[in-house]
Amino acid sequence: MNLEDFDFESDCKPNRSILSIVTCSALISFFHCRLEAKVALVTDGASGLGRSCAKLFSQHGAKVVIADIQDELGHSVCKELGPSSASFIHCDVTNESDVENAVNGAVARHGKLDIMLINAGIIGSPTVNILANDRGDFQQVLNVNVIGPFLGTKHAARVMILANGGGSIINMASICSIIGGATPHAYTSSKHAVLGLTRNTAVELGRFGIRVNCISPYAVATPQSRKFLKLEEDAAIVDAYSNLKGVALKPEDVAEAALYLGSEDSSYVSGHNLVLDGAFTVLNQGFCMFDQSS
Ligand SMILES: NC(=O)c1ccc[n+]([C@@H]2O[C@H](COP(=O)([O-])OP(=O)(O)OC[C@H]3O[C@@H](n4cnc5c(N)ncnc54)[C@H](O)[C@@H]3O)[C@@H](O)[C@H]2O)c1
Repeated sequence: MNLEDFDFESDCKPNRSILSIVTCSALISFFHCRLEAKVALVTDGASGLGRSCAKLFSQHGAKVVIADIQDELGHSVCKELGPSSASFIHCDVTNESDVENAVNGAVARHGKLDIMLINAGIIGSPTVNILANDRGDFQQVLNVNVIGPFLGTKHAARVMILANGGGSIINMASICSIIGGATPHAYTSSKHAVLGLTRNTAVELGRFGIRVNCISPYAVATPQSRKFLKLEEDAAIVDAYSNLKGVALKPEDVAEAALYLGSEDSSYVSGHNLVLDGAFTVLNQGFCMFDQSS
């Protein structure tokens, strides 16, 4: 039975006993658990978007392993989610043995890995002039934003291929994976690379039943974006450039996209860049025939 086939009125009302109501509620929450029996590793899950994704995955029944360099924060997120549902492992995504250890740790704890969410990403120095860009700063952004997803994909694929049960690998890209000019050179370059990695590995890993996709959000209020955009702690991202008025993109919206890509709801979706931008990247800001005033 699917949730769509389940009708609370007809299925529950004729038997109004407390037992039947409890059974019906349990059924509803069972059908809402879109990641029941799944194991997910969330890199950079201690803060920002990764934290929201880890939380939603756990609410949908997944066993979640959070991998991050912020140990204290990571442990506190796990405490919040409950020890039976979430655990922490220290991992610097630029370090191959850390990534290998995190993937092996998830498998050792839960017997398998179904979902790898690779959330790694730093924005780097806000320098805009290419002549002033420092090689070391540029390299550091590529290390976290590209080498991190490469290592994450490699080691997740290793255990998924071995288990022969498919899997879902999700990279966190950005609208900067498909447009130029919105962020510094290193960040834009890195997100274009994440999209390339996603597409190439989706093609290679398809024969093992492994899906690889990425999510490309517009600006979302997180510790990193607040710092970059110099926003107050509780300020929402109110952006005059956003196309979709009256609604701001939230970490929870990004988590819903990750839940979709991690669950069976997207079982035939692979090599896809799921852009969450309210049509920002399809609008030509310089020329538009439609009224843009709000
Ligand atoms: N916030 C936005 O507006 C936005 C928009 C589009 C895409 N993104 C992408 O989303 C992802 C998450 O960004 P966020 O805004 O949540 O950032 P955040 O700074 O709030 O969280 C990032 C997390 O990554 C961890 N981290 C940083 N370097 C690491 C490393 N080397 N190894 C392991 N963990 C590391 C941090 O400890 C932190 O927990 C990034 O890939 C970012 O590029 C963010």
